[in-house]
Amino acid sequence: MCLPPRVLTNRELERMVDTSDEWIQERTGIRERRIADADMATSDLCAGAVRQACDDARLEPAALDALIVATSTTDTLFPSTACWVQRKLGIKGMPAFDVSAGCSGFLYGLELASALVAAGHRAVAVVGGEVMSKVVNWKDRGTCVLFGDGAGAAIVTPGDGRSGVLASNWGADGNLAPILYQPAGGTQMPASHETVEAGRHTVHMEGNTVFKHAVVAMSSAAVAAMRDAEVTADDITLMIPHQANLRIMEAARERCGIPRERMYSVLHKYGNMSAATIPVALHEARSEGRIHDGDVIVSTAFGTGFTWAATVLRW
Ligand code: UT7
Repeated sequence: MCLPPRVLTNRELERMVDTSDEWIQERTGIRERRIADADMATSDLCAGAVRQACDDARLEPAALDALIVATSTTDTLFPSTACWVQRKLGIKGMPAFDVSAGCSGFLYGLELASALVAAGHRAVAVVGGEVMSKVVNWKDRGTCVLFGDGAGAAIVTPGDGRSGVLASNWGADGNLAPILYQPAGGTQMPASHETVEAGRHTVHMEGNTVFKHAVVAMSSAAVAAMRDAEVTADDITLMIPHQANLRIMEAARERCGIPRERMYSVLHKYGNMSAATIPVALHEARSEGRIHDGDVIVSTAFGTGFTWAATVLRW
């Protein structure tokens, strides 16, 4: 994983908007988050995460045969952030492209990487990375307290037949697009002086509506993936849900019938890093010795779109 060093605490936010540490912790479970420096782009964090994942996999980045970046906070509208990552890693040749599926992006990327590997690719990098701090409205207390910056990566390779993705479930409902989106800057509402003045280049979110859909989508997708993987809640050693709000994570976990001690969270430290939350949590769980060979892990996410995805894998 790769996180910017700057920490922004709830106490500091108290001095920026009308909020309190108590409110943020009680309603979300977040205590602090990381914030990128002014000169840091999403591709910087993604390149750092891919480099580390390659080291861990004992692989040169040049040996990757595809690079998938999951992000909503792209470096530029075009080209893809994945191409900027290639440039920063000093690699070329392999296909590189972005997946735009919001917070479900890493699991969407994992699904694509698995398909590429099944089709003969040997090493596919999937990286979820975001610099949310550059697209949130720092005057809107309903959103700015929630998000953080970071990136996490995985290298997907052909397995030994025993470990890997057992089943997944993914989907989208574009009718819900307006409940969470960045209105301006694209072809719907091109950038202008007016859009900038009206703050239309920042996150627009109907928090309560997102909350309700998130709980249902995350739990339904996880239950469906577990059924298809032919595992029960008892078989799950660790649940790594998308980390947006502890209350959403807890409600989804309960609906899946997985005990509290088997859910892993880094939300308190990093906030909602969108597509980066799952790979960062996966990395930290592994570093802390919470994941062992043969473990069955379920990950589930929801995000802008509205998208959802769940994956059951055997480590
Ligand atoms: O990855 C996907 C990204 N999005 C999400 O996951 C968001 C999902 N939604 C949520 O997590 C929650 O809906 C929020 C955390 C955004 C809000 O929590 P809530 O329990 O749904 O609160 P609310 O929106 O119903 O607001 C309750 C009150 C309101 O005041 P009044 O109208 O009751 O006087 C808000 O104005 O809390 C107020 N409020 C705040 N107060 C202090 C909203 N934000 C804040 C804040 N500090 N930061």
